[in-house]
Amino acid sequence: MTLGKRRERERVLSGIQPTGSGSHLGNYLGAIRHWVQMQDDFDAFYFIPDMHAITVVHDPAALHRRTRETVAELVACGLDPSRCTLFVQSQVPEHAQLAWVLGCITGYGEANRMTQFKDKSARGELGAATVGLFTYPILQAADILLYQADRVPVGEDQKQHLELTRDLAQRFNARFGPTFTVPAAYIATTAERLTDLQEPHRKMSKSLPPGGTIYLQDDPKVLTKKIRSAVTDMGREVVVGPDKPGITNLIGIHAALTGQSTQEVERAYAGKGYGEFKADVAAALVATLEPIQTRFREIVADPGELDRILGVGADKAEEVASATLATAFDRVGFLPRARGAQ
Ligand code: AMP
Ligand code: TRP
Repeated sequence: MTLGKRRERERVLSGIQPTGSGSHLGNYLGAIRHWVQMQDDFDAFYFIPDMHAITVVHDPAALHRRTRETVAELVACGLDPSRCTLFVQSQVPEHAQLAWVLGCITGYGEANRMTQFKDKSARGELGAATVGLFTYPILQAADILLYQADRVPVGEDQKQHLELTRDLAQRFNARFGPTFTVPAAYIATTAERLTDLQEPHRKMSKSLPPGGTIYLQDDPKVLTKKIRSAVTDMGREVVVGPDKPGITNLIGIHAALTGQSTQEVERAYAGKGYGEFKADVAAALVATLEPIQTRFREIVADPGELDRILGVGADKAEEVASATLATAFDRVGFLPRARGAQ
């Protein structure tokens, strides 16, 4: 069910949180790189969910810096603000406004079933669980439904939030009339999931020690060292296998960076050892990341330009968001506001 005129291109929307110490190679190969490819085939909306980032205890100065850096990283990786809509969530007030309405059609028990809330609150290291952390998935639903997104590419851990979004869209449409597009999730394949270099049975993540995580901003020496000291497995053959999680991960990285299949990588290293293979993985990594790092430095050095990009993005986003919000408000019975009355 789509509101308004039919669009020529499907609309895609996704977000990446401005937390941690920068984006890592998993974010790039598993998400950002695909976002870049989707800019031309889709009407693409990408944003930084900074309002989601304050659902756990946070440092304001770090959030401020990381929000800018995350935008700079995305642009450095190839998102082009003239081919997609790139914005910061808190600059478009409709997100919070729609979240309120959606919260009013969400069951308490339904929200209470969200496993990410249970996991994060149980861990407790982030401080006491807040109401904001509890309603996080409802804000996420608002992020998506405001833009009438057809597809939402996310990682496996966000599947449940996407299901909730679909349920809320269907419920609202059934109760108040067709308003929201029911989005399809677009879950990244597990084959693309990078694992930690030091603990190859765990997913590469911002929350693991830095030695096993490749950050997009690691300098070439650090990159080379991290690959050289990556945990490998018994044997000496460069082949994929369940008993070789470390080498399998490195083969996946090599393949993604060079645009080859894993079989092609295996063939290229038949009869060669881990040492030579790792040296080539490091070289491919440096070749991919160095230009990204150079662009990143140029972008963060020009904060005025970055603000301008975000201003344009917020205006484009708000045009769509305000139209959807006005319809949703009208559907639930809110009075329209008279503008310019004396
Ligand atoms: P997160 O860092 O969890 O906020 O993830 C942001 C995006 O990066 C999600 O869409 C994930 O699919 C992707 N991502 C995160 N970690 C990995 C990983 N280890 N391998 C592949 N993709 C990842
Ligand atoms: N919760 C998502 C994550 O942690 C980030 C996010 C917020 C998001 N709102 C979104 C992703 C809307 C896609 C669509 O990765």
